[in-house]
Amino acid sequence: MANIDILTREGCDPSQHIWSRRNFVGLAAWGTVLGSLGVGTVAFGRFMYPRVLYEPNTVVKLGKPSEYKVNVVSEKWIKVYRLWIMRYSDGLAALYGKCTHLGCTPMWLEAENKFKCPCHGSGYRGVDFHAGLPNITGINFEGPAPRPMERAKIGLAEDGQIIVDFSITFRQELTDNNKNWLAPDSQLKYAS
Ligand code: FES
Repeated sequence: MANIDILTREGCDPSQHIWSRRNFVGLAAWGTVLGSLGVGTVAFGRFMYPRVLYEPNTVVKLGKPSEYKVNVVSEKWIKVYRLWIMRYSDGLAALYGKCTHLGCTPMWLEAENKFKCPCHGSGYRGVDFHAGLPNITGINFEGPAPRPMERAKIGLAEDGQIIVDFSITFRQELTDNNKNWLAPDSQLKYAS
């Protein structure tokens, strides 16, 4: 009421300046309608142009076997593909660098001949190069890791390069010889 008095005193028409309840209700209704239209438009846009998730290519060529030194764990691909390539006297294997506890990438500690996870301390056995394939590399022996690390599918491409598919892995502890480290695709026989 005080505002109406001031407006009247100053010669203004209060009806031109004061919002009635009807004005507010009308405005709110329009806001609701426009808001719904906006949400609908965004949803339609999402439908017409869905977000596309580009999966990384999991099949990679990693050079020729002869590029890897015998009895060495190669760290060449650990940062890019999370893979260690291990060359034994009779072949190669690709160990997938993912801790089986919560998925961190372990470190290869050559001097201690083991892989060590920096997150919660899991340790995995290193390499017995005298044993050849399939070897025991990557078996968990300390910390919370429940099982060995996995090996990725490995083979030889037509151009003579090592080809690895790290979406297909083999688990040492499984009894199925097509899914564990005895599976033909879990190791690449190669003698120089
Ligand atoms: S993630 Fe490796 S020990 Fe926990």
